[in-house]
Amino acid sequence: MEKMPVSYKELGLVNSRDLFAKAVKGGYAIPAYNFNNLEQLQAIIMACAETASPVILQVSKGARSYANATLLKHLARGAVEFAAELGTPVPVVLHLDHGDSFELCCDCIASGFSSVMIDGSHLPYEENVALTRKVVDYAHQFEVTVEGELGVLAGIEDEVSSAHHTYTQPEEVEDFVSKTGVDSLAISIGTSHGAFKFKPGEDPKIRLDILAEIERRIPGFPIVLHGASSVPQDLVETINAHGGKLKDAIGISEDQLRLAAGSAVCKINIDSDGRLAMTAAIRKVLDEKPEEFDPRKYLGPARDALKKLYIHKIMNVLGSNGKA
Ligand code: G3H
Ligand code: 13P
Ligand code: ZN
Repeated sequence: MEKMPVSYKELGLVNSRDLFAKAVKGGYAIPAYNFNNLEQLQAIIMACAETASPVILQVSKGARSYANATLLKHLARGAVEFAAELGTPVPVVLHLDHGDSFELCCDCIASGFSSVMIDGSHLPYEENVALTRKVVDYAHQFEVTVEGELGVLAGIEDEVSSAHHTYTQPEEVEDFVSKTGVDSLAISIGTSHGAFKFKPGEDPKIRLDILAEIERRIPGFPIVLHGASSVPQDLVETINAHGGKLKDAIGISEDQLRLAAGSAVCKINIDSDGRLAMTAAIRKVLDEKPEEFDPRKYLGPARDALKKLYIHKIMNVLGSNGKA
């Protein structure tokens, strides 16, 4: 069956432009929570409605094929209605995380995404500029906002992996932003994807000095932090106490994220912490009640744990509560 393109506006979604402008001015960051399934989405919306926080629903290429693009479109529309039903309509952005091709970005735009990331960070600089420009020119026709990336995070980004950080070079940012026309810029300052961000004994610091220099060069321009999970140790302990094997899982300190959120960082990406919260809750139920086999009995607690985590981030790290 031929799929009809749908605009995000028909789904009740918004792009990120105004949200970012307000967040930069107000010294807070918008949560960009990744999701793959219904319980994660429910938890995100419940947390954001309860705290009156705007939200970026973030979907990776892998998540999109896992959840199905058609279902996602309806879930996104449902998310907007669900928030309103809970009593607090919140601005909802549907964002492609780590788009790796022009075609994928176009396909997402046609299926209701209001924002896309084109991640050309692993390409030579001029190729990154050209690919990002191409996506921006296309996306802006539909008022879809675009995130680009300069610098490479250590760890795994969809199919791309890198053992070391390549920090963003501040001297490149003005040129990149002006040549590409991007709406926001993801930077590499020592955060990384996944639950193993630092080695034991390593100083778990991010390079806030590079962030400050980037801000000095492009004042007020919306900056995005990927790989910003904090890997709460109580969750790691719960997982390990119930049969899990996560050794030396270390994340970014919430103090450093708070500092970043107070600057031009206006979008903070969190996926791994949600995975940990969900896994800890499910392991606990299945370990303590081996007779349980109703998925609602372990996915329900997982959803509660996610909601609690998301509210904590909004209130104590990002500062986006009350900004809807
Ligand atoms: O940055 C990557 C996100 O955590 C998404 O991960 O590609 O496994 O869905 P994924
Ligand atoms: P974490 O793995 O630190 O949660 O980062 C998620 C992310 O950057 C998604 O793009
Ligand atoms: Zn990322």
